[in-house]
Amino acid sequence: MDHVDERQVLVMSYYRDAELRGANLLFRLLSHLDDPESQTKLSLHLADETRHAWLWTKRIKDLGGDPVKVDDGYQRRIGSRAVPRSLIEILALTVIVEERALQRYEEHAQRSDVDPETRAILHEMTKDEKWHIAWVRKKLEELARETGASEQMRAALERYEAIDRLAYEELLAKERALCGNTNSA
Ligand SMILES: [Fe+2]
Ligand SMILES: [Fe+2]
Repeated sequence: MDHVDERQVLVMSYYRDAELRGANLLFRLLSHLDDPESQTKLSLHLADETRHAWLWTKRIKDLGGDPVKVDDGYQRRIGSRAVPRSLIEILALTVIVEERALQRYEEHAQRSDVDPETRAILHEMTKDEKWHIAWVRKKLEELARETGASEQMRAALERYEAIDRLAYEELLAKERALCGNTNSA
């Protein structure tokens, strides 16, 4: 069967885009968090996200498709609304987008129509995303405590959660519309 599932390719292209743009946030953190432990963790974290982007790219190619250029993905929608202005805010935003990635991959893995290769990728990434959330959240809380910025942290998390919900709802609506189009095509 050489029919390419365009909808699947598109969904994976969105994942790929979110991974690549997420890596961008980590690059910013690399120049802000100077302690050796953070530098070590950020290096692995960044390697994970770029590997995730590659795994989606490879999966798309294996399905017979090509990665689609995405201009209105999750990170773009977040970026147009959230402009983190401090280290606390960048860390808070990172926690929120990582939590969304985890939730999204877990939800996808539970669908009944997922092929085994894709499910294996989703499981691998889910594991990584859990570690990403854990260490960045710990670092954020530590830093907030040390610098007396707990209130700033709380406010940032709350603000970015609201932005994330909005961006995600938009994406879901888009996906649903797309689903309908594909079926009728
Ligand atoms: Fe990732
Ligand atoms: Fe991640």
